[in-house]
Amino acid sequence: MRRIGQGIVLAVLVAGFLIDLGGARARPARAESEAPATNPLSGNQAAMKEGRSWYLAICAICHGVEADGVGERGAAADLRVFNKGFGKFVETVKNGRDVPNRTAKMPPWGGVLSDQQIYQIGAFVETLAKKGANWKGPAN
Ligand code: HEC
Repeated sequence: MRRIGQGIVLAVLVAGFLIDLGGARARPARAESEAPATNPLSGNQAAMKEGRSWYLAICAICHGVEADGVGERGAAADLRVFNKGFGKFVETVKNGRDVPNRTAKMPPWGGVLSDQQIYQIGAFVETLAKKGANWKGPAN
């Protein structure tokens, strides 16, 4: 009986995966609102390690090695206090943000970084979060 139960669970998972793949193929440009409500890689050690490498390679120049918003390229947001939730994080990273009268702009990373890489970066930066920040959950 247990065997059969596991088989059914597996079949459902595989079917779900295939349906998901089909959907992704039909709509190559996934809207940001389709980001999962919570970071699926939150707390995943391997993801945090990968995310740290990406963060230091491409984000730290503006947001600072400590994510405090003080990078070589002038002031960007202090990511340790980011509290808008996972969906907004993914959306901002994909679309970027143009801030008037600011030397540094948040570049759009959609099409440069995969969703997976953005989630990995999130899994890393949330480890630097201060009290009251919201990195991994739904919007407040
Ligand atoms: C060229 C400089 C630059 C780079 C590189 C950069 N950012 Fe930004 N980022 C900014 C600026 C400027 C803002 C806007 C700050 C504001 O709105 O006051 C911003 C905003 C953000 C925000 C929104 C913060 C908030 O409170 O709403 C997030 C999240 C973010 N960046 C994450 C990242 C991540 C992750 C990376 C690396 C993939 C990255 N940024 C790379 C400059 C940069």
